Amino acid sequence: MLIRRKRGWELPESAATDEAVFRNRRNLLKGLAAGPMLAAGLVAPHLAAAGEAAAGPPASLYPAKRNDKYKLDRPITPAKYSTTYNNFYEFSEDKDLWQAAQALKVEPWSIKVGGMVEKPFTISFDDLVKKMGLEERLYRHRCVEAWSMAVPWTGFALAKFVDFARPLGSAKYLKMTTFTDPAVAPGQNKFFYPWPYVEGLTMFEAKNELSFLVTGMYGKPVPKQDGAPLRLAIPWKYGFKSVKSIVSFEFTDQMPKTFWWALQPSEYGFWADVNPAVPHPRWSQATERVLGSDMQVPTLIWNGYGDYVADMYKNLKGERLFA
Ligand code: MTE
Repeated sequence: MLIRRKRGWELPESAATDEAVFRNRRNLLKGLAAGPMLAAGLVAPHLAAAGEAAAGPPASLYPAKRNDKYKLDRPITPAKYSTTYNNFYEFSEDKDLWQAAQALKVEPWSIKVGGMVEKPFTISFDDLVKKMGLEERLYRHRCVEAWSMAVPWTGFALAKFVDFARPLGSAKYLKMTTFTDPAVAPGQNKFFYPWPYVEGLTMFEAKNELSFLVTGMYGKPVPKQDGAPLRLAIPWKYGFKSVKSIVSFEFTDQMPKTFWWALQPSEYGFWADVNPAVPHPRWSQATERVLGSDMQVPTLIWNGYGDYVADMYKNLKGERLFA
């Protein structure tokens, strides 16, 4: 039986319209060559984030000290855009979901660590944050839908968490899973999606210094619509790798079947590294729309983070790295 249904990024008509509109505009820039005036950190978000920051004992830990190693080549995206234009299919297929996401209860929040580890355990989010400590990093984020943002995330290195979890040497992948609760997340009642949302990294990727577990943004606990209380930020991969509201980490020797890969294998795979030269089957990845503006800028391979990550892939032959 052919079931006519919405399928992820096939549908958002609003997004498709956007794309058509912005492609017709004449302000395709040859890069954000605005120079040092626009350098990271000089343009502060001018409006507060939408919705309640997810409060909790760790709220007292904000703002965390910025790690200046990670620089941006563009202004920080004002919070009013990054907290009101979201992808969180558990709540809606539309971007305007921040109010719906407030139904998510993030306190208390438990995180399970299991699979190929010395000893499985469960830890509360608050205890985990106290153990890990927090820092702030400025990262670019490139969605597969060809829009991008630049965000001051707060959190801790995923590598630090991996050490803490004590995986076995035989573990090859880290699988991360979002909560399941159809009573608060209406999208999870749509049977054609392969819930729960799952993402995965190789152990090499998980231990890369850029891989970051996010607990906050703009110097405050991360809002629910952006993935409270704990999400991933993997800046060299398309944004769908950055799984939100994580409840479990599982170390495994099997490549995890990730959400979008399971749903649409012809279009999305496990790796999903950013590459402007490899188009999505239905649109170009050559440029990106800067969220909160009508600027189009060229997309960079590995989203500009090749110095940190290219080495991990040089011996990987025959893998579909850029989808
Ligand atoms: N995580 C879950 N659980 N559900 C989702 O729908 N969307 C992904 C990713 N993580 C998604 C998710 C996509 S497609 C993107 S681009 C980013 O979250 C968007 O993050 P943002 O809403 O904070 O910009």
